[in-house]
Amino acid sequence: MNIAIGCDHAGFDLKKTIVPIVEQAGHTVIDLGCSSEESVDYPDFANRVCVAISEGRCQRGILICGTGIGMSIAANRHRHIRAALCHESFTARMSREHNDANVLCLAARVVGSALVQEIVKVWLATEFAGGRHLHRIEMMG
Ligand code: RB5
Repeated sequence: MNIAIGCDHAGFDLKKTIVPIVEQAGHTVIDLGCSSEESVDYPDFANRVCVAISEGRCQRGILICGTGIGMSIAANRHRHIRAALCHESFTARMSREHNDANVLCLAARVVGSALVQEIVKVWLATEFAGGRHLHRIEMMG
């Protein structure tokens, strides 16, 4: 898969940890910024990642900010984006199995790099279960 990745200044350091994890899992990373710890506005980067998915250039995305909250709010304003803010691997797995989440939001100021590795690996590897869950997703348009 092509995985779009975006962050703000608070997530920049963690993004550097995540890129090789995604690549080692066999995916191509499309890094849509930011590119330093200079202060930026998280909606700009959420929008870039969501547009890349909506246009079909990427199949899924990962967004990182300080709490993950701003990124998830911004991403979920896009139709056809299902962004899940996950702090551990159980919800990361369920966000794929039950919700077919196509964006993973991460909180750089909450989770450490070891936990993030587990979350990202599980989220990338888990397939949507379909069935009754598909109908619920379709209800959201
Ligand atoms: C930046 O200071 C911080 O507000 C941002 O990274 C994020 O946590 C917003 O939700």
